[in-house]
Amino acid sequence: MNDTFLKACRGEKTEYTPVWLMRQAGRYLPEYHAVRSKYTFLEMCKTPEAAAEVTIQPIDILGVDAAILFSDILVPLEKMGAPLEFHEKRGPVFLEPIRDRAGMEKLHIPDPEAELGYVMETIRILRRELAGRVPLIGFSGAPFTLATYLIEGGSSKNYFLTKKMMYTDPALYGDLLNKITDCTIEYLKAQAAAGAQALQIFDSWAGVLAPCDFAEFAIPYVKRIIAALKASGITVPIIYFANNGATLLSQSLESGADVLGLDWRLPLDEAVKVVGQKVSLQGNMDPIALLLPPAKMEKLIQDILDQAKGARGHIFNLGHGIVPEIPPEQAKFFVEAVHRLSRKG
Ligand code: CP3
Repeated sequence: MNDTFLKACRGEKTEYTPVWLMRQAGRYLPEYHAVRSKYTFLEMCKTPEAAAEVTIQPIDILGVDAAILFSDILVPLEKMGAPLEFHEKRGPVFLEPIRDRAGMEKLHIPDPEAELGYVMETIRILRRELAGRVPLIGFSGAPFTLATYLIEGGSSKNYFLTKKMMYTDPALYGDLLNKITDCTIEYLKAQAAAGAQALQIFDSWAGVLAPCDFAEFAIPYVKRIIAALKASGITVPIIYFANNGATLLSQSLESGADVLGLDWRLPLDEAVKVVGQKVSLQGNMDPIALLLPPAKMEKLIQDILDQAKGARGHIFNLGHGIVPEIPPEQAKFFVEAVHRLSRKG
């Protein structure tokens, strides 16, 4: 079994630096479109055989060191009772945004096996089909990021309605976030029980918060999730990724995660100065830098490897998800170059 990813998460020595890409199963791959053409996006998330197939595509095509379950952070929210659609241009849309107490009270905590069984079944199929080739990462959104979608009704520019609720009705905001947190704890526990070998919590929009607001309105819920998972006996590594989170790093360190994901705005050696040897680091090449010509991409990869030298462990990744415009050959070159350059060094 290729366990370099799990070893790096735990801070153990590896022969080379493991690498995977956020959003590695996706629209930059023609093979993804071939499967996706038969389903809507949500149908595909709910069809375990299809979800498993596209999860494995980047393992075969790119040679990455970990698989990440194909699903979406918004999938459990639908089962909380928030009707969800994905539109080609607009992205995710919640048809009944949560903006008052009545809306919040209608949400319930889904039983993951009974109501999100397709996710657990996808994980079980993947563990069989991967047969130890690479570890499987399960995931969820972080409560703040999930709440932005529920409150705004979709993607947002300035998060006005989310911040309005935070500032003008903190009791409602707190009750909503606690409900999302309870749902996420059960959801991640079930993923680990089904066979996920690591769990990543995506806080994609944490970076829109001032550090004092992150302290009050976001990180306490992440802490509660991780504490509950660990208290329940879960030992798989937990990765917390706060996108655009350079100013939130010392607080993220207190989350209890084993690994912190970093975007490209903070060099990894600067991050090591803050986190020391307490956690491993994951990241952090700008996803658009996948367009660099070979020699320049190698130079950037080498710089990131050098910056990560003092880290307890390093998992190479992008600083955010790969975008649909990237030619697959460039992603393939990236993975091969990370392996080759880190072996030498
Ligand atoms: O990483 C992987 O390969 C696993 C699958 C995965 C998807 N979404 C598939 C997806 C994961 C881990 C996610 C997480 C996710 N979803 C996040 C956190 C990561 C991040 O990028 O910040 C967020 C914020 C979402 C919400 C979401 N899902 C948006 C805003 C959109 C529309 C915009 C976009 O990027 O397409 C999605 C749709 C989505 N999720 C697609 C995929 C492959 C594209 C759907 C399609 O095929 O049309």
